[in-house]
Parts: sequence; structure tokens; C-alpha cells
Amino acid sequence: MSPHGPQPGCGFDREDPLAGAVEVLAEHVRAAQRVLVLTGAGVSVASGLPTYRGDEQSRYADKRALQDAFGSTIRKDPAGFWDRFRQRRAELQAASPNAAHHALSELARCSPSFCLATQNVDGLHGRAGSVGVVELHGNAFRERCLDDACSTDPWPAADLTAGLPHCPTCGGVARPDLVLFGEGDDARWTPLRSFVAEGVDVLLLVGTSGVVSVPTQLCQLVREAGPAWIAEINPRPTDQDELRSLLDDQFAFPAEVLLPALVGALGAGEG
Ligand code: OAD
Repeated sequence: MSPHGPQPGCGFDREDPLAGAVEVLAEHVRAAQRVLVLTGAGVSVASGLPTYRGDEQSRYADKRALQDAFGSTIRKDPAGFWDRFRQRRAELQAASPNAAHHALSELARCSPSFCLATQNVDGLHGRAGSVGVVELHGNAFRERCLDDACSTDPWPAADLTAGLPHCPTCGGVARPDLVLFGEGDDARWTPLRSFVAEGVDVLLLVGTSGVVSVPTQLCQLVREAGPAWIAEINPRPTDQDELRSLLDDQFAFPAEVLLPALVGALGAGEG
């Protein structure tokens, strides 16, 4: 890692920045035995889904949506929460995986050992064919019991056009299987910790602002585990100083442009 954090553009082809970025990324991925990718809301932008923060189109520009991101909201007003969440689920359901999701599902075949983790709850990686995705913030299409004392495992959500869903075991009100603000999510990190413990050669952070601490925590975990090359793919590279200090490189391109080009350069699917 550079002692001063990333130096964007270092080693790039000035004539064709995209080709230069692909060349650098492909070189690192080809040399890697173990590749880890963490995605955020930016990978789903080309599917028509808004990011959480950034501008007036972002999800949290709507104060009600921000309120619904807190675990306390569903506990205070489950009926109101579910009225709004049904709408959100329908929007997520209507979206389709884009070229970034498809490229990541192909990238898994380019590395002897590959792990994809996401902060997204839209399920689009799975719908693009990625398997074993570590969903750190849960999945909007799964539900679990609102009562923490009920030990029923989360279940796939059924269609719900009105009313409240209920727990199949205790009959109590159900909630989406999401990690909301103010809630712990440590158990969801377990598969990721296991992967990292065996070493990571390349970590790619794709489409995440770093405002929430997940990317920083993951970079720290990876650095503690051993030497790794860590790069960010984001048209607006992170402005979070702590996260920047952990990166080796930044590639200022949309995920749906750079990732398919990378997979093409790696020759995924050939032979
Ligand atoms: P943010 O909304 O904070 O950041 C999205 C990032 O995507 C920004 O840095 C954008 O620049 C970038 N971006 C936009 N278009 C892109 C594109 N085409 N390709 C690549 N990147 C692009 O979303 P997250 O970092 O994912 O938590 O947010 C982290 C967590 O905060 C979310 O999982 C959510 C939220 O609170 C929960 O829901 C628990």
C-alpha cells in the first residue's frame, strides 16, 4: 500500500483511461489466488435503484425513508412500516440485474477462490447468478420474527398485498430480514471473517460511499490478515479519509462500465 493512500491514475494509459484501469485491475486479479469483492448501492444504480445518499434522488433525501432505516420505526408502528415497505419491495422486485451484477457473477470464475459480499438488500447479485453472496445487511425478500426471543430462522417472503405478515411459528408480527440502524449484525460477518482469515490478495470495493463503516472495517480486517491490494471502483471516489488511507488505488468509473470490461479482459467464460 502507498504510505499516503491511493494515487488515482497511477500507471494509467492517459490516452484511454478505461483501458488503463482495466489493465491494472486485470493484472492484479490474474495474479491473485483469493479475491474478495464488497458492493454497495452504486452497483444497482444502472438497474434504476437509487443510492442511499448523494443527491436529492437518493433514498435518504426522503425523511420518511431515512426514518424507516431505523429498527425503532417498525417496532413503534409495524403497520405504517409495512405499508411503505410493500411499496419498496415492489420497486426492488421490478428492477433487473445490470451489467455490473452479471460481470461480478462471471468474475467468480476468474479466480481460484472468490467471495462476494454486499451491503445491498435488493437480491440482484443472486438474480444475476452469483452464489454464496454474503448479504451483510440482509435481504428485502426474506422475513423473520419481530420478536427477538422467537428463534425461527428467516424465511422467504410470500407475496403480500395488504396487512401484516406473521411468523409461521409464534404467530407474532414479522419484519423484513434486514439490518437496520441501531441493530447488531455481527453474525452476518461470520462467513466473511472465515474467508478473510485464509488471506485475501485482492479486495475490490464497488459502489459504496464508505459513510457506513462496513468498507473500512473490511479493509482493516483484510490488512490485519496479510498483504493485499485494495482498490475502489466508484465514479465518485470516497471522501472518507480513514477509508482512503486503506486503499491502494481508486478507479473513477461506473461499475457497469468497468466490471464488464475487466471480465472481458480476463476472458471469463472463454474456453
Ligand atoms: P451510499 O448511497 O452511501 O453510496 C453509494 C455509492 O455508489 C456512492 O459513493 C456513489 O458515488 C456510488 N455510485 C453511484 N453510481 C455508481 C455506479 N454506476 N457505479 C459504481 N458506484 C456508483 O450507499 P452504500 O455505501 O451502499 O444500510 O450505503 C451503505 C449502507 O448505508 C447501506 O447498505 C444501507 C445504508 O444505510 C442499510 O440499509 C442497513
